[in-house]
Amino acid sequence: MASPVRSKSMATVRVKRFNPDSDAKPYMQEFQVPNLQGTTLLDALHRIKHEQDGSLTFRRSCRHAICGSCAMNVNGRNILVCKTPLQGQLDRKGVVTIKPLPYLPIIKDLVVDRSTFWNEYLRVKPWLVPPATSPEREFRMSPEEVAALHNAETCIMCGACYSACQVVALNKKYIGPHALLKSFLRVLDPRDTIPGERLAEVGTDEGVFRCHTIFNCIDACPKNLNPTQAIETLRRLAQKRTAFEAARVERQRTIAGPLAAEPTPAAEGGVRHVP
Ligand code: FES
Repeated sequence: MASPVRSKSMATVRVKRFNPDSDAKPYMQEFQVPNLQGTTLLDALHRIKHEQDGSLTFRRSCRHAICGSCAMNVNGRNILVCKTPLQGQLDRKGVVTIKPLPYLPIIKDLVVDRSTFWNEYLRVKPWLVPPATSPEREFRMSPEEVAALHNAETCIMCGACYSACQVVALNKKYIGPHALLKSFLRVLDPRDTIPGERLAEVGTDEGVFRCHTIFNCIDACPKNLNPTQAIETLRRLAQKRTAFEAARVERQRTIAGPLAAEPTPAAEGGVRHVP
């Protein structure tokens, strides 16, 4: 069959479709949209939904790469479609292929079931557990302690790293890079009182010792974070958990007062953005 004639002023968006109520299996469908400068992939999906097929289903909210809801697989890579220009993703024939995040069950079209993602997130107790008594003014942290946490805090929980991870694909009990990054954030926070419990939870073969260091999580992260480095740090700390717990108890004697002159455990390793 002759291939369709494609105009340069138009782009072809190939979308993976699946409606569990009517489709036996997923299939690819093509749509034509204007190839205008400044159009993002999310704009293109909106255009298709509003002008061509209202049943096309996808998640989005903020449109500013903050909420993490629009992560999808585009041309084989997990990215945020709201911050990605359409033009940069077109091949020489003017075609871009959009699929749901891989390895997760499809609910409909580009929407996946993130239950395992959130269950693993809750498993590491992502909230801070501060000392029982709060200081009168503030907890005192050194610049190094704050810097160690800073970049891990910018994770937006989009799921791109989790769904790009080959270990997740093979083993649904693996905690996953997103939750391990969050655990890292809490373990290294000098205000947190349960670093030993956290290290016991992640220091297993369902946690940091299951990571194969494939680096897919780094490639996929739209915020250029480095979950692999966080996992490496957690591995080291898990192996000296008792000493780390003792150091945290000691650190918390001064957390409500002036800063200690001595280096603190939290300075051990921060997560840097990938250059
Ligand atoms: S819509 Fe919020 S990150 Fe894309």
